[in-house]
Order: sequence, then structure tokens, then C-alpha cells
Amino acid sequence: MSSLIPPGVERVLFPAEQIETRVREVGAAISEKYRGKELKLIGVLKGSIFFLTALARAIDIPVKIDMLAISSFSGKGSSGLVRIAKDLDDSIEGEDVLLVEDIIDTGFTVRYLLQNLAGRKPNSIGLCTLLDRTSRRIVQVPVDFRCFEIGDHFVIGYGLDYRQLYRNLDYIAVMNPAALTKA
Ligand code: IMP
Ligand code: MG
Repeated sequence: MSSLIPPGVERVLFPAEQIETRVREVGAAISEKYRGKELKLIGVLKGSIFFLTALARAIDIPVKIDMLAISSFSGKGSSGLVRIAKDLDDSIEGEDVLLVEDIIDTGFTVRYLLQNLAGRKPNSIGLCTLLDRTSRRIVQVPVDFRCFEIGDHFVIGYGLDYRQLYRNLDYIAVMNPAALTKA
């Protein structure tokens, strides 16, 4: 377990061991669903990179990896405005792709990405997320694989940041709301 406990952390929500175990289960489920095929994992920079690399190693069918980056508004939460700041390196036409996210909150980011990627004519497109906060959903999105459902708390670690910090924690922790300054 990472020894860093940042200021403002209220409690550990998912310790590293629990995340590892769950990622292995989800990787096995993905392998079963796509058995006999090649799968392209598409990570959303930067939040999903820690999850993506662990997930890829938990999958036992051939995978390719590509990444895109979206423009995001720094600080807490998100708005409905999404733009691709760095696109995929390669075409996804005819491929089976799985979009890999760190967290789905309102759903705006993922809805935009799924629509954008669908326009590139993949054979299939799925959605996998480390965390799902359904209580704050504004637009519905089809989640195929999820590691954990969480309540209405702001979380950091395992890729998730607060003002670009703390992505490197190997656990996921809840921040005390009083410690969050509105950006
Ligand atoms: P959505 O478009 O509202 O679904 O926002 C999802 C994005 O907001 C995620 O990809 C994160 O970058 C960010 N986000 C939402 N909740 C949290 C959180 O609790 N911690 C860190 N980032 C978050
Ligand atoms: Mg993100």
C-alpha cells in the first residue's frame, strides 16, 4: 500500500488488494465475452492509465491499446463540455473496441466519446469503468463492465486526481468535502 496519505483524505474506500482482486475478475469477464477475438482497449488520458494497464494484464486474449485525451476542466467534478485534445493513433474501423474510463459521473464525457467512436465504424464498442457513480448520472450510458459502484463522494487515487495530484496512490480514498476548494 502506498505510504502517502494526502491531506484532506477522509478514509480509504478501496485498498490496493481489493482493487487488484476486482480488476482480475473484470479482466476474466472481458476475456470470456471477447473469447476468439482481438480486443482494442481505448484509454482516456490521464485518469484511466493505471486501471488500463492493470486491466490489460488481467485479460488473456490478444489486446491492442490506444489512448485519447479529452480537454477537462481542472478541479472537482465536470461539465457537459467535452473535446478531444489528443486523438487515437490508429483507425478502429472493423475492430472490437472497449472504452476504458476511470469514473463515470454525469455521463457526459462517456456519451460524447461513445458517439464519436461509433462514427468511426468499429465492429463493436463496449464500455468498462473502474468506478461508477450512478447517483449523479444526468445522461444514460450503457456500462458493460464496472469494478465498483460508489456513492456521492469525491475520490482520489489509482489514476483519479485532485488538481492533478494523487493519481499515483495504489488505493482509492474519499476526500473530505471541506478540503475541496471549488475550481
Ligand atoms: P462525467 O463526464 O461527469 O461522467 O465526468 C467524468 C470525469 O470527471 C472523470 O473521467 C474524471 O476525470 C472526473 N471526475 C468525476 N468524479 C471524480 C472524482 O471523484 N475524482 C476525480 N475525478 C473525478
Ligand atoms: Mg477522466
